Amino acid sequence: MLSLLMIFALPTILLLHGSADASTVQQQYQTLTTKPQHFNPKLPLRPLSSSKRFEGSSDLVHLRYHMGPVLSSSLINIYLIWYGRWPAAHQLLIKDFLLSISPAHNHRASPPSPSVSEWWRTVSLYTDQTGANVSRSIVIAGEHHGTAHSQGSHLTDLTVHDVIASAVRSAPFPVDHKNGIYLILTYEDVTVQDFCRAVCGFHYFTFPSKVGYTLPYAWVGNSGKQCPEVCTYPFAIPSYMGNGGSRSKPLAPPNGAAGVDGMISVIGHELAEVATNPLVNAWYAGDDPTAPTEIGDLCEGLYGTAAAATSAR
Ligand SMILES: *[C@@H]1O[C@H](CO)[C@@H](O)[C@H](O)[C@H]1NC(C)=O
Repeated sequence: MLSLLMIFALPTILLLHGSADASTVQQQYQTLTTKPQHFNPKLPLRPLSSSKRFEGSSDLVHLRYHMGPVLSSSLINIYLIWYGRWPAAHQLLIKDFLLSISPAHNHRASPPSPSVSEWWRTVSLYTDQTGANVSRSIVIAGEHHGTAHSQGSHLTDLTVHDVIASAVRSAPFPVDHKNGIYLILTYEDVTVQDFCRAVCGFHYFTFPSKVGYTLPYAWVGNSGKQCPEVCTYPFAIPSYMGNGGSRSKPLAPPNGAAGVDGMISVIGHELAEVATNPLVNAWYAGDDPTAPTEIGDLCEGLYGTAAAATSAR
């Protein structure tokens, strides 16, 4: 089970604006109309002219549907599990981002385009076999603060499950395997197995033997102190990308906190993947179900022009 979990610890660097579309997605829903300016440091550099091919639907990777469920109920419930010594100001930045995914309600003005909810609209084009779309609306249905280090200051793939189990056991945190995403966010005082070396975040589902239920979850860590150059790109640049040249200058983090701003990108990546592939049997590319390429992976490190200025709005 451990190795299986590690295989699914899908490396995540960045995704904010634009998800690769499924083959069924119609052209008019493509919202990425600007040149991506920032590139995944893990991919070979491409000439700018070829990068256009990554916008909107991708000719390069064919996402396929594998008949499993997507998160299609009218509301997606996020259960936030804060792990580590989180300052309230940083929690607010992340909650602000999560609340900006849903379309604006009548009483609230729509944010300027490009917005987070426009990006999520692309995610909502994915459907299940009944034709039900991924939900456009996300709410924070519960928050669990727990004791800062109930499972220690180092988490493994398995103790992450214990953290979820204790959050679910503590009333009134419900078992919500239909509409729920359990989102564990670790602060910079917590280390996590493979964090910074292989992953910045991952998603999977819990096992009945550990947690009592099969629940889709995601984990994202704050890398601000541990490895900003690995997990907060483009707010920090890996040394192997060299110095000088416009592409190797870090951008200013929009909220002035590279660790949290970098997390917001990774959270966007993981949520898009959980929503379209919650049990890892719905939307992914590739022939190997133990190493699926999911929608967030296809856009890793690709940003629209205005993304850096709007990433937390
Ligand atoms: C649902 O997804 C389909 C296929 O991508 C799309 O054509 C349709 O417009 C979507 N429906 C809604 C309500 O977003």
